Amino acid sequence: MSSARIVLNPDAVIGAINPRIFGSFIEHLGRAVYGGIYEPGHPLADDRGFRRDVVALVKELGVSAIRYPGGNFVSGFRWEDSVGPREHRPRRLDLAWHSVETNEIGLHEFQDWLDLVGSELMLAVNLGTRGTAEALDLLEYANLDRGSTRSDQRAADGRPDPFDVRIWCLGNEMDGPWQLGHRSAEDYGKLAAQTARAMKAFDPDLELVACGSSSSAMPTFLEWERTVLRESYDAVDYISCHAYYENDGDLGSFLASGVDMDGFIRNVAAVADAVQAERGSDKRIDISFDEWNIWYNTRFENVDKIAGVDNWPVAPRLLEDVYSVADAVVFGSLLITLLSHADRVTSASLAQLVNVIAPIMTEPGGPAWRQTTFFPFAETSRHAGPVALDVSLTSDTYETERFGTVDVVTAVATYDQTSGSTAVFAVNRRIDGPTTLEIDVSALPGPVRADAVSLFDDDLDAANTAEDPERVRLRPTVPVSRTDDLIRIDLPAVSWTRVLLLPAGRG
Ligand code: AHR
Repeated sequence: MSSARIVLNPDAVIGAINPRIFGSFIEHLGRAVYGGIYEPGHPLADDRGFRRDVVALVKELGVSAIRYPGGNFVSGFRWEDSVGPREHRPRRLDLAWHSVETNEIGLHEFQDWLDLVGSELMLAVNLGTRGTAEALDLLEYANLDRGSTRSDQRAADGRPDPFDVRIWCLGNEMDGPWQLGHRSAEDYGKLAAQTARAMKAFDPDLELVACGSSSSAMPTFLEWERTVLRESYDAVDYISCHAYYENDGDLGSFLASGVDMDGFIRNVAAVADAVQAERGSDKRIDISFDEWNIWYNTRFENVDKIAGVDNWPVAPRLLEDVYSVADAVVFGSLLITLLSHADRVTSASLAQLVNVIAPIMTEPGGPAWRQTTFFPFAETSRHAGPVALDVSLTSDTYETERFGTVDVVTAVATYDQTSGSTAVFAVNRRIDGPTTLEIDVSALPGPVRADAVSLFDDDLDAANTAEDPERVRLRPTVPVSRTDDLIRIDLPAVSWTRVLLLPAGRG
């Protein structure tokens, strides 16, 4: 049996957790919007066509900000197509996903849906096929109270009050050759800077995200960030990170994906700080990890792509990955990594939310259900307190092909001073057996009682499907022993666990 130990100390603060760390992402891609959040005619659709079952699941998941409308899609998107009377909206080719976009759902309808789920809009502008002028038009349309043609148009389109979007993405993955309008770091940096300065001339308090690398495997990784930030440092607030992981058969390495994400964050932060030092600036650039997930991208590259000059489907089934228990455990560890960098990662978006590499799946006219990855996200967003704690982890290790020697356990804790509750999130990466986790609670105020749940299964490939939507669910975990100072829990092989420590006597 392997072991690990953590020490909970409310003074060992990593940083305040920005609720935006529990953000997500909806792109006009596949069945995310059409047939996902929106399906008029479904028995559970409301009078605007939004599926009530999906709304309930999104609320249960607990997502803060939702990035929209892309993704690769945004780099060819004309926002004007998606506002105004629906009957006048054009059908357009979406070159990113080889589909037809009907524009039946646009900015207004998406905001209506966000109002239902209680999430904030994080809006991306097109810096692929378009530029600063169109971004400014959209900003004026969305955020100006009244008095200009654009703002009056918004009111006439049904929203007298501005959308007041606070956080904006300056394009998407502009380092990627697949991106419409892909350009060099210098060219993108100049465009991002010009656009950001213009947007801040309208409202200096906007929060603006410059595109970082689309993955740490890009040949331009870090040089891209350095060049973009050198051009745009004063005008932007965040640099983005995107990372997707998949199990290529080397389970030990896959389980250690959080190590890669951790290095990614450290490296991007180091480059941002180096540019800060070069400039002698007081300002720090934060990280918006605005695409992260498990994604079987190689399968998409080889099988799912749509092609053909005469083949442009509407809302095809794309990227509908089915997630296993092992995927959910890695997913949970990525969330642990993000929280471990709460002082720097102040915005993050689980990519994506419904049907497309998503924790929530739907069938047309049929059910909506939770994928395995739903559970770690919902539990973490629900139970995380306002600050992240460093847990002084000591752990047995194992050897991996890709990352060398890796801790068997990864963990983070959060603390809520008001309620006195502490939440621990831990993953056991050991494949062949449980790991005993010792939690030193001696520094917590007063005696505590523990409530714990885990995600694990004898079958690591087990998944939830339309036919068997509750095959995988959380299971209660009972501590094997406890004193006032020490709680011992056996973490099952390949498992994700949430432990909530509440002051004894509180509900
Ligand atoms: O989330 C799916 C796609 O992954 C997004 O459109 C793109 O930004 C990334 O490459």
